[in-house]
Amino acid sequence: MTLPEKLGQLTMTSGSYALTGPLRFADPSDAIRAGTLGNLLNVVGPAEVHALQRIAVEESRLGVPLLIGFDVLHGHRTLFPVPLAETALFDPETWELTAHEAAAEACADGISMVFAPMLDVARDPRWGRGIEGPGEDPWLAQRFSEAKVRGFQGGNLAAATSVAAVAKHYCAYGPVMAGREYASVDISERTVREVHLPPFATAVTAGVAAIMPAFHDLAGVPMTAHTALLRNWLRGHLRFEGVVVSDYNAIGGLIHQGVAADLTEAAALALNAGVDIDMMADAYSKGLPGALERGLVQQVQIDRAVHRVLTLKERLGLFDDPYRRGATQEVAALLAQRRTLARAVGARAIVMMKNERAALPMADSVRRVAVVGPLADAPEQMGGPWPAAGNADAYVSVLAGLMSALPQAEVRHAAGVALAGDAPVDAQEALNLCAHSDVIILCLGEAALMSGEAASRTNLGLPGRQREFAEAVLDRAAARGKRVVAALFSGRPLVVPWLVERADAVLACWFLGSEAGNAVADVLTGRVSPSGRTPVTWAQVEGQIPIFFGQRPSGRPANPADSFTSKYLDAPNEPLFAFGHGLTYGAFVFSNLRVNPRCARRQETIEVHVDVVNEGARAAEETVFLFVHDRIASVARPLLELRGFAKILLQPGEQGTVSLQLPVAELCFLNGDLTSVFEPGEVEVLVGPSANRAQLLHTSIQLL
Ligand code: GLC
Repeated sequence: MTLPEKLGQLTMTSGSYALTGPLRFADPSDAIRAGTLGNLLNVVGPAEVHALQRIAVEESRLGVPLLIGFDVLHGHRTLFPVPLAETALFDPETWELTAHEAAAEACADGISMVFAPMLDVARDPRWGRGIEGPGEDPWLAQRFSEAKVRGFQGGNLAAATSVAAVAKHYCAYGPVMAGREYASVDISERTVREVHLPPFATAVTAGVAAIMPAFHDLAGVPMTAHTALLRNWLRGHLRFEGVVVSDYNAIGGLIHQGVAADLTEAAALALNAGVDIDMMADAYSKGLPGALERGLVQQVQIDRAVHRVLTLKERLGLFDDPYRRGATQEVAALLAQRRTLARAVGARAIVMMKNERAALPMADSVRRVAVVGPLADAPEQMGGPWPAAGNADAYVSVLAGLMSALPQAEVRHAAGVALAGDAPVDAQEALNLCAHSDVIILCLGEAALMSGEAASRTNLGLPGRQREFAEAVLDRAAARGKRVVAALFSGRPLVVPWLVERADAVLACWFLGSEAGNAVADVLTGRVSPSGRTPVTWAQVEGQIPIFFGQRPSGRPANPADSFTSKYLDAPNEPLFAFGHGLTYGAFVFSNLRVNPRCARRQETIEVHVDVVNEGARAAEETVFLFVHDRIASVARPLLELRGFAKILLQPGEQGTVSLQLPVAELCFLNGDLTSVFEPGEVEVLVGPSANRAQLLHTSIQLL
C-alpha cells in the first residue's frame, strides 16, 4: 500500500443522507477510486452503497472494500423508543433484541458499522444527549452496554445481519461543564474510574468492534488525544484490539482546543494517542505525511492503525463479499413484525409517574376524549433526535393511536399552543373540547431536536407557552371535575412539579419511535399495564442539578431542624421522582427480605430473596431493585449503589418471590489510592421499587 492508500483506510467521510456535523458532503467517487478514501458514513441504501462499493472493489488499485457507518441508536427504518426510554424497560433481553433487529434493517441498507451504543452516564439533564444513553447509573449502563453490543454484532460479525458496534463517547461526556454541549469536563479521577469507564470496559469485554472518543477535554486533555485513556488504559490495560474512530471532525477540533497549531500537529496527537480513523477532519490524509517528515509520528503507527481497520473489514466479511449487506431486501412480513415489536417495546418504555382519581386506565365506557396540546398530533416528533432512516410519515401520533384504539369513542383534537416560541396561546377550541369530554389527554413536552446533540437547555420546564396553555386546560377541567392525563414527550427529565401536582395522571413518554401513538393508547386504555421505570432522577428545580441517587454521604447529613446541615434554603433535597420510580396498574407490597448466606467471602455469591404481592385489582409487572450501601469503608461510599434488578408479573392477589444474585466480588471498590480493594465488614442490602430509600426493605451482610 502506498502512503496515500494507507491514509485512505484511516479516513471516513460523510455522505449526504444525514447531516450530523458542521461540514458538507462532496462526491467521494474519485477519492474512492484513487484509494485515498476507505470509509464513509451517512450513506444509506443498497443501490448507493453498492455503487460506491463497486468503485472501491473493482476500480481502485487494491480493491479494499468500504466500511459504511451510520447512527443507528434505536432502530434503523423501524424506530424503537429512544435509548433512555428503552432503558426504562430494565430488560436486557429486549435491549439486545431491538439492537439485533436494528442491525438487520441497517444491513439491508448496506450499513456495516453503527455508531452505537452510546454509553455516557448522564446526571445533568441540561445536557441534551442523555436521551441517547442508559441514564444515570454506571452498573445499569454496563448491563445496557453488553446487551447492545451482543445485539448489534451477533455471534458472527461477518453475518449479513451483523454490524460493527461503536461504543461511544469515550468517556465522561455526560458531566460537561454546566450541562453545555461540547464544553470542558473537570471531574475527579475517581468519578472517571467508578462511573464513566465501566460501561466501556464492559463493551470491550462483550467484544465491541470499535470505540469513539468524545469531543471534550477531560481535565485539560482532549479525549481525541488522550494517550493515557486511549492507548494506555483502553489498549494497554483492557487489551482492546478493535478500532478507535474519532468523532465528527474531532481531530480538527484539537486546534480549537488549543493543543495543536495545525492539522499536522492535530493528526500526530490523535495517532499517537491511538485514534485509527479520522472522521471528517481530513487531518490524517492532509497532516500525517508532514507529521512523518517532522518525526512527530512513526510509520509503524500508521501501519498498525491500517492493520486494525483492515482486520475489522475482514471480520465483517467485507473482503469475502462486499455486497453481502444489502444483497437481499427484507420481506414485508418481517417489517410488520418489527412494527409490532416497536409497539410492545414502546408501551413498556412508558413510565407512569402519577395516577390518581382512577384516571388510568381510561374506563371502557369512555365516549368522548379530548386530545390536546402541541404533541397530540405530531407524528414527526415521535422519532426523537436520531431517527436514522425512520420515515416520519409512517410514525403513529397519539391522536391516531387513540382513534384506532377507541373506534367507538369520539376522539377530538386541538393543539392549543405551539411547541415552542411566543405565538399566542389559542386555547379556546381546546377548552371547548375539554368541556365536552369525559377525559382530557394533555400532550406536552419538547420537540425531538430539543434533546440529542447540540441541544443543551438551561430551563428544563415546558418550552414556549405550553405551561400557560396547560394551566388553562387544568383550570377548566378542575372547574368541571374532568380528569386530565398529561402525556410528556421529552429527551430528558423535565422540571414540571406544577404539572405533576395538578394533573390526575402523568406519563413519561420520552420519544417512543414508529409506533408511539399506539403504544401510548395501549397504556391509556389498559390494554397494556405500564411497567416502565425512570432510569434518571427527576429534579424539582433546576438548582438541584446534578441530582442522582448514587451520591456520597455528607458529614452533616440533612436535618430540617439544624441549619448547619446539607440542604438548601429555598428547595428540598428530595427529587420530584427518584431513579426507578414508575407506577403500574397493580399495587405491590414487598416483605420478608432475606439473604443467604449472611456472611460471605469475595468469591461467593449471595442469594437475595423478597416476597411481593399484588394487592391491586389488575395484573401488572413490578420491577424490583437491589441496592447496596457500604456504610463504613476506607473511603466514603455512595448512599446507594445499584447491583441488580428483576421483574415479576403478578395477577391480582397473587404473591411471588423475587430472587436476585449478588456476586460479592461486585462489592470491590477503589480505595484512596484508586486501587481496587475488597474490604471485610458490614454492607447494607436494600431491595424495593425505586431508589427512594423510604420504600426499601433492608438487611445487612458481613463480608469476610
Ligand atoms: C456526531 C456525534 C456522534 C455521531 C457522529 C457521526 O457529531 O457526536 O455521536 O456518531 O457525529 O454522525
